[in-house]
Amino acid sequence: MEKIMKATILMHKADTQEALRKILADADIECEVAVGSLRQFASLGAATRDLLIAETDGSRSELAVVERLATQHPQLPIVLAAADPGREFLLEAMQLGVLQVLALPFKPEAVREVLARLRQRLGPSSVHQGKVIVFQPSKGGSGATFLAANLAYAIAQQGKRVALIDLNLQFGDAVLHVSDSNAGTSVADVVQQLQRLDGEFLMSSMVRVTPNFSVLPSPDSPDKAVGVRPEGVFRLIEVARGNFDYVIVDVERTLDPVSIRALDCADSIMVVLQLTLPFIRDAKRLMSVFDSLGYPRGKVRLIVNRYQKGGEIGLADVEGTLGADVAYTVPNSFNAVAASVNQGKPIVSLDPNDRVSKTLVEMAARLEKRSSTPAGGWLSRLFKKAA
Ligand SMILES: Nc1ncnc2c1ncn2[C@@H]1O[C@H](COP(=O)(O)OP(=O)(O)O)[C@@H](O)[C@H]1O
Ligand SMILES: [Mg+2]
Repeated sequence: MEKIMKATILMHKADTQEALRKILADADIECEVAVGSLRQFASLGAATRDLLIAETDGSRSELAVVERLATQHPQLPIVLAAADPGREFLLEAMQLGVLQVLALPFKPEAVREVLARLRQRLGPSSVHQGKVIVFQPSKGGSGATFLAANLAYAIAQQGKRVALIDLNLQFGDAVLHVSDSNAGTSVADVVQQLQRLDGEFLMSSMVRVTPNFSVLPSPDSPDKAVGVRPEGVFRLIEVARGNFDYVIVDVERTLDPVSIRALDCADSIMVVLQLTLPFIRDAKRLMSVFDSLGYPRGKVRLIVNRYQKGGEIGLADVEGTLGADVAYTVPNSFNAVAASVNQGKPIVSLDPNDRVSKTLVEMAARLEKRSSTPAGGWLSRLFKKAA
């Protein structure tokens, strides 16, 4: 770690405390320790710390303390530890802005992962960092998977190294949009071997569609989804980011700890919707969840799919309602899209003159322009941080 971090750790029992202190000491993190409950934290001088790791019983009253701390110290990264954090609790904690909920007893690799995320927050890194773009449907059938897979292919055609990761863990089929083979190993296989997970292992697990475009498919049966944990997904995306220029992630409509972890990692979130009320309503709900997760508005971009001019609802209405700009519109093209999906061939190669193909090529070019302008570079981020 470039900078010495000072952590406050607050555990219920001395032995849990000691186990954590040892792991942090190995990572050169100075600790202030206390045994007690979260409710006592207010007296510890949170403002002077870089990190708080606190055990919680998961009760409403402790969540209220977390909320207060998060509001009073917006810069303080908060990590909670709980013996048996349920899904509901995880979601609520994330919405309060908690960086991570660790399961007790502590696993050293899970703690190290949190530190890696913090390090990432603290400053620009010198290692290769591809762009991570997550496609989030506002509702099923928006076209998110079709666009994610086909845009990934279009970006690769412009010479970039692109990975498509299918996080529709139960019924994913992104790979079948661009290839007739799903012979690769799946997301579940890869994240279950975390200790082996590096660039080489990842590459060898993916379906290689073209020399610079590979897909990591979702598991072939829904029961395998349970083995996929948020920590594993974080690591997977980090390794992919280190080995590709673009990492396109397709997630399902429902938010859960796994997809939220992917959204956390994203440089951009593309919310895909169509111009009818049900899509807009759900997009509105998504936007408010993103707000409560602390995502800056600039991270979230809207794609209006199957767009036809002159409809009852216009782009300006959507922008007004959702409080975000429509970054891209994709025309409706039923026959060409259906042919592409049915044959498992990317639309830009199957029917390059179709208007959806032209839009995808244009989107790929605009993305590349955006990511190579200095405005988004590390230097300006550094100045923003200092300001
Ligand atoms: N621009 C479009 N024009 C016509 N049909 C489309 C378009 N985009 C998507 N579709 C159709 O909508 C279907 C559902 O899309 P899909 O990507 O599975 O949605 P999601 O992932 O949001 O649930 C696709 O199989 C495709 O047939
Ligand atoms: Mg989908």
